[in-house]
Amino acid sequence: MNTQYFRLDGSHDNGAFEICGEIIRSGGLVAFPTETVYGLGVSAFCADSVSKVFEAKGRPSDNPLIVHIAYPEDAEDIAFTSPLYYELAERFMPGPLTVILPKKDCIPDEVTAGLNSVGIRCPSHTAAHKLILTARVPIAAPSANISGLPSPTCGEHVMRDMTGKIDAVIDMGEADFGLESTVISITHDSAVILRPGAVTKEDLLEVCSRVTVSEAVKHPDRAGDRPASPGMKYKHYSPNAHFSLFDGDDDEFSSFINDLQGERIGVICNTECAKSINDAKCYTYDKKDGIKELCHNLFSFFRRADDDGVLNLYARLPDDKGQSLALYNRMIRAAGSTIISGDK
Ligand code: TXA
Ligand code: MG
Repeated sequence: MNTQYFRLDGSHDNGAFEICGEIIRSGGLVAFPTETVYGLGVSAFCADSVSKVFEAKGRPSDNPLIVHIAYPEDAEDIAFTSPLYYELAERFMPGPLTVILPKKDCIPDEVTAGLNSVGIRCPSHTAAHKLILTARVPIAAPSANISGLPSPTCGEHVMRDMTGKIDAVIDMGEADFGLESTVISITHDSAVILRPGAVTKEDLLEVCSRVTVSEAVKHPDRAGDRPASPGMKYKHYSPNAHFSLFDGDDDEFSSFINDLQGERIGVICNTECAKSINDAKCYTYDKKDGIKELCHNLFSFFRRADDDGVLNLYARLPDDKGQSLALYNRMIRAAGSTIISGDK
């Protein structure tokens, strides 16, 4: 299949949205940028085409897709909303939040992997918004990576994973946040975080009277066979390199790295810490804006480490507060839950 490629800078679209909207409406697959990561979009009403998304990604068929809408009230067409949904929408939409709601019959089982709920997301990225509007249908979209690889945070990642498998790619450079949206399920006044993201527990508490974090977020190994969010049971986001987390401060971390024997060692660390590391290949982020920068770069560091032939990749265990909980979740899943203690 020939994959059409549109590199846009935000000022001229050269008809890309008309073309891509038409592709989606007629059952094709288009990758597009969002404020979190790139998505692989398909009409949420087109059951046959949805199966092509699972094929292109090599995604297990029991892992449901999120449906993207242009405006919060468009959820009415596809799901049963509630007052809390609108309070959340008022505060966080458009933006990096996915709310699980009971689905209406027009959403085929293929989208939700047979569940009677659907994840609703209203992205803030202008390209995502425009694509949904021109397609004139809600867009079901998982992240546009091969299943198991890190989510794509720029057009180049998408092209590497999807060229020849999908109809088109809209490339608008790097995704802003760099980790996938916060996924929550809700009752009448409370929320459960199934996947942490840019919208934090503290943010949600401005609207919900109670917010809990699903156990699988910090303990993916305890997700079991039927977690509330099926995606949690799969080892995700992994580089090919063996990835390990180190629980200790920068000084302990750099001495641990410098004592390692072996070749092709990679280290994810801040620029200050990198100065005390001797031989390893460092993937660095600015300490000043640490969490934000690491969220933005984590998946691209994973891909770069693989390109560089790194065999063992190390990073410090992030803390589990605020937006750092999203980092904690992605990193601990990539590391298969193994943590090296700095006390040893
Ligand atoms: O930021 C994002 O959310 C990106 C962009 C493209 O929007 N999308 C994304 O989709 O990360 P995906 O398919 O890679 O991850 C969706 C996650 C999975 O863990 C899935 O199990 C969960 O959301 N999910 C989707 N629908 C669900 C539902 N009805 N109930 C529970 N979990 C659901
Ligand atoms: Mg994904």
